[in-house]
Parts: sequence; C-alpha cells; structure tokens
Amino acid sequence: MWDLAVPLDFRVAMTSSHIANVMQERRVFPPPAEFVARARIRSQAEYEAMWQEAAADPAAFWGRLAGELHWFEPYREVLQWNEPFASWFVGGRTNACYNCLDVHLGTPRQNKAALIWEGEPGEVRVLTYGMLHREVCRFANGLRSLGVRQGDVVSIYMPMVPELVIAMLACARIGAVHSVIFGGFSSEAIADRNNDARAKVQITADAGWRRGQQLPLKQNVDAALAKSPTVEKCVVLRRMGNSVPMQPDRDVWWHDLIAQAAPDAAAEPMDSEATLFILYTSGSTGKPKGIRHTTAGYSLYTKKTCEWVFDLRDEDIYWCTADCGWITGHSYIVYGPLAAGATVVIYEGAPNWPQEDRFWQIIENHRVSIFYTAPTAIRSFIKWGDHWVDKHDLSSLRLLGTVGEGINPEAWMWYHRKIGRERCPIVDTWWQTETGGIMMSPLPGVTPTKPGSCTRPLPGVVPKIVTPEGNEVAVNQGGWLVIAQPWPGMLRGIWGDDQRYREQYWSRVPHHYLTGDNARRDEDGYYWIMGRIDDVLNVAGHRLSTIEIESALVSHPLVAEAAAVGRPDEIKGEAVAVFVVLRSGEPSDALREELRRHVRKEIGALAQPDDIRFTNALPKTRSGKIMRRLLRDIAAGRETVGDTTTLEDYSVLARLREQEE
Ligand code: WTA
Repeated sequence: MWDLAVPLDFRVAMTSSHIANVMQERRVFPPPAEFVARARIRSQAEYEAMWQEAAADPAAFWGRLAGELHWFEPYREVLQWNEPFASWFVGGRTNACYNCLDVHLGTPRQNKAALIWEGEPGEVRVLTYGMLHREVCRFANGLRSLGVRQGDVVSIYMPMVPELVIAMLACARIGAVHSVIFGGFSSEAIADRNNDARAKVQITADAGWRRGQQLPLKQNVDAALAKSPTVEKCVVLRRMGNSVPMQPDRDVWWHDLIAQAAPDAAAEPMDSEATLFILYTSGSTGKPKGIRHTTAGYSLYTKKTCEWVFDLRDEDIYWCTADCGWITGHSYIVYGPLAAGATVVIYEGAPNWPQEDRFWQIIENHRVSIFYTAPTAIRSFIKWGDHWVDKHDLSSLRLLGTVGEGINPEAWMWYHRKIGRERCPIVDTWWQTETGGIMMSPLPGVTPTKPGSCTRPLPGVVPKIVTPEGNEVAVNQGGWLVIAQPWPGMLRGIWGDDQRYREQYWSRVPHHYLTGDNARRDEDGYYWIMGRIDDVLNVAGHRLSTIEIESALVSHPLVAEAAAVGRPDEIKGEAVAVFVVLRSGEPSDALREELRRHVRKEIGALAQPDDIRFTNALPKTRSGKIMRRLLRDIAAGRETVGDTTTLEDYSVLARLREQEE
C-alpha cells in the first residue's frame, strides 16, 4: 500500500514576478484500506459531489445541513451577503451551548464521557455529557446572579481545566460573549483586551500548573483589573488552594457562586448572528484585533468540519493538544467535538513534564484514537528522541492531525512512521482564527496525502491563488491565497472596527477574502501553503518562501528546527538569514558550510543561506508560532520595536542577542 512513496524531488522554478516554487514533494500516501472501509466519507466521487454542490449553491448545501442544529425558531433565509458582511441563517434562533450539550440528553450519549481531563500533576476527572450539562447550568445561573446579560462580554483567563470549558459554554448558554485570553499572557495584554472588548466580568483561577511551576493567574488578573475599568466582578476558581487576596466588593469564589445554583438553566434562544465570542489575534500591525464569531454559522461549521476531517465516531477518544486560549481550542476542543458528541481529552500542562514522554503517556493511558497537534510540537518530539516514544503503546491511535503552520515534509514523515506506525492517515489542516474552522485538509478516508500539503478545500470553500492585481496564477506558481465565497464559519468582523475588517480582508483583492498567506496549487489541485505574505523573501529578484528553506534545513539529519528570515542586503535586496536548532552535534563553521551546501543541493543556489546562526531555541508565540518578525530584527542588527507581548519565553530573545556581541 505504501509503495507509492517515492523520494523527494526538489525543483527550481524561478520567475521574477511570482513567488518561486522551489520544492516539490513527490511522495503520495493513499488512505489505508482499513481506514477507508469504516470512514464517514469514503470516495473521491462523494467528496467531489459535495464540493461541487457547495460551490454551485452554498445556500442549498448549508441549508440542507442546518437541520443538524437545534432551532428554537427556524431561519427565513440561509445567506444574506452584503459584501463584506455575511448573515447566515437569517432570522433563526439557536444556542451554541444547547447544540453541544442538551441535544445529547435523553440519548445514549447522556452518560458518555464528554471530557476526560488530566491535570499536570496527574489527577484525572471525567465529566459525562449529563454532568457537564449540570455544571454548565449551575455556572450559567451563577453568572446570571452576577448580573451578566445577553451581549455582555465576559473575559476568561484560566488554566486548561474543565471549568474553562464550563465557563465558555455557560456564557454561550445565557447569550454572553466570551473573550478567552490565553493563560500565558501578561497583565498588560489582559488589560488591553479587556478594554478593547469592554468586558464586564472576569473569570480566572488562583493559579495553574505549567512545567511544574505555578502560573500566578489571579495575581496577573489583579494587575490587569487595576487598568480594566469596565470589569465589575471577578470569579475565581480554586485550582491550587493557594491563598490569594480577594477584593470583597469585586471578587467571588467560583464554588461560592454555584453553591446555591440550580443544576438547570434555560438556554437563551439566540439570534443566528448574535456574537458567540471574540478572540484576540495578532495582525501585521502588532495591535491585537478581536475577531468576532457568531452563533449559528460557527456552530454548524465547526460541527461539520470536525466530523468530516476527524471522521469522529462515538467510540473515539479524541485529543486536541491546543489551549482554549486559541481558536483551535474554541473550535476543536469545545464547539465542534461536543456538538458532534465526541469524548474529548484535555490536558493542563506541558508536553515535557515530568518527562519528555508525557503526551505518549496520555495517549497510552486514555487510549486516545485521534491526536491533533502542532508541527512545532512534533519537531520538539523529534529533538527529544525516539526512545521517549518507544516506551509507550500507541496502538489505540487511528488518525493524526496537524494545525497552525506548515509541516516540514521530514517532520511529517517522522509523525507518519513513528507515531502513526504507517497506518494512521495524517490530516494537515489549514485554517485561521478568522475562518472559524478548517478550510483545507485531507479527508482521511478519501484524500491521498502528500507530506507538507494541506491537500484540498473542504466543501463550501472556494480558494484561489492570485497576483496582487487579482489575476489567477498558473499551476505551481505561488501567489496570494484568497477565498472567493462566504462560508458559515467566517469571521463577521473585527470587534468595534468595521473599517479595519474591510481594509484588511476585503479591499486588497476585490470581492475576495484575503487570507494573508501565500500558496501554490500543484498539478493535482493540491494546495501548498508557503507562509505568510510578510514571510516572503525577495532575494535577487526571486521571491522565496521561508517554509521551503526551513524544510530543506530540517531535512538535514542534524537539524531539529529552523527559521528563515530576510535581512537587507545591498546587492541582492534581501539576503537569507537562518536560525538553526541542532538535534545533536556541535555548532561549527564546517557544519555551517555543510548546511549551506545542503540547502543548495535541496533547493538551489538562490536559497542558500547567507547567515547561519545556531541557537538552542527559537522565539515563539505562546501558540508555538515562530516570531519571524523578531528574528528579522536580530538578523538585521536592529532593536526590536514591535509588540513582544505574545512571546512565550523572553530569555530566548536575550540569548540570541548575546550571541551577536
Ligand atoms: C498558518 C490557527 C500551513 C497560516 C488555526 C495561517 C498553517 C495562520 C496551517 C493562522 C497549515 C495554520 N499549514 N500554515 N496546516 N494552519 N497555518 O489564526 O499562516 O493562529 O494564516 O489559526 O497559521 O493562524 P491562527
């Protein structure tokens, strides 16, 4: 079955007006027969028919699926499109929490595990759908007793504990808008977001665990609330039992709030287009923007994409390693999988605590069958070594996924061989905070995969690749990835800033949503994401994408991770600077030369790095994205002026700077 795999074949296709496509990955992996036999969607023909139907008549397609949601009141019209503002399921009333919980009550799922939670110190809690429903209702009543009403914004800053999911769903239940802020953000970042959102209530915990350390969440919130004048109340979960200062007129313990609360609470029938949540993400300017998602379209889109892409079945144990502070946690820990009735594993802590095999231990202990993680994590696993994996029984796995950035083909191969044991399909899912759900991905029972490609668009997604002038480019030519049709999960705007929404996403290429990513489409119609538009290098008139240089470096046996950025160069316009984390071996000039040769061999002389710096870590956002902006500054010898509040570990930056001296 796997004989189709053929070795890498890199090609150089240089043009001055398009992004040079320099790498072609030729290996193809068809879905394993035993997976196909049981898959929800099994044939290419079925996928093609769905895709064609959705592209030709999105309203008919999504209207047919909308019957899977619970409607308090039916909608009048599937889609109203006043570009760039979409309304889906106009006039209908539904509730995102109801669709995740109440729909399963009175069915065999009522007593099925909804959440299996593992804390970093090792404690485990299981909540069935029935139990989760009761806890959510209690907390919803608690929020109501604090005066939270429909449309009020509730800011959530919590560790990855079941109460985080409960808080989100309780907001949805009563029509409040949640704004989840990742537990690693600073008090400055919390205050900025609270003020932009005009948050009324804050929810937090005394502390949370991360790599054996306690994150002082309440302390950060106290500092943030001193600068968040709109916040009236603060609910504090006792996670550690630490004594934390409580401000009597403002702070209330979670357990006190729900002590008298009834375990049932009616779900508000919400307008289809009522805001479900805002989630702050960074744009090119450094000022975070609140991406706004609404009730019905988002609920339907996350449910359907979850079922299609993860092929979810009732007996699956599904684990997405994201944090609820990011869109992946919203869509593929909470709203998608719970609406689909899945059993969801949640883990509180770090992947290397107490040792580097924690994830494999969790998979073994809970018999995880679907595992969804980030390429950056996979590269760390590779660096930590195979012996950590070999200690564990991973035979429960049947499907693997990735999200968040492109995966280097060599990391893909490791994931496929070492974790998937060559029997699990890999779904490389491309999407964004703005898109609400997965846009491009293999369907695991249908799509032959190519390492490094997110393959093809899901039904309802009509991508195009265009020049800055809006003309479609030829096969295998890089260009801007845009989306030609509205889809139910799309963002409805930037909180409080319609103008920025219009400008950023809908004005550069008329009548198309601008993703901000570069991509190419190959001769089989497969999409290859080539990094952000601002990650493009222009070296001697040739545009190069950073991910391709990085993939070439990572394919060298000594390289664990690499980041490529441009730095100004008098002769070439931009020179290629790379930052390399070694898997083993010592930095040396000889190795530098060898890596240069390696990239030259894999891609071509035009991509050969001018500078190679060895480092023991790369500066990353807390969601694991390499902060190339900072590396660009270092490569250019500039002071960093931009926003660094999303940086996970400041010391990485300091160490990189020290090396310069
Ligand atoms: C990148 C995360 C390549 C891309 C869900 C996108 C990817 C940005 C992939 C959105 C992928 C995400 N392959 N690149 N499979 N998935 N990206 O908003 O640049 O945190 O625009 O959403 O991550 O990041 P965000």
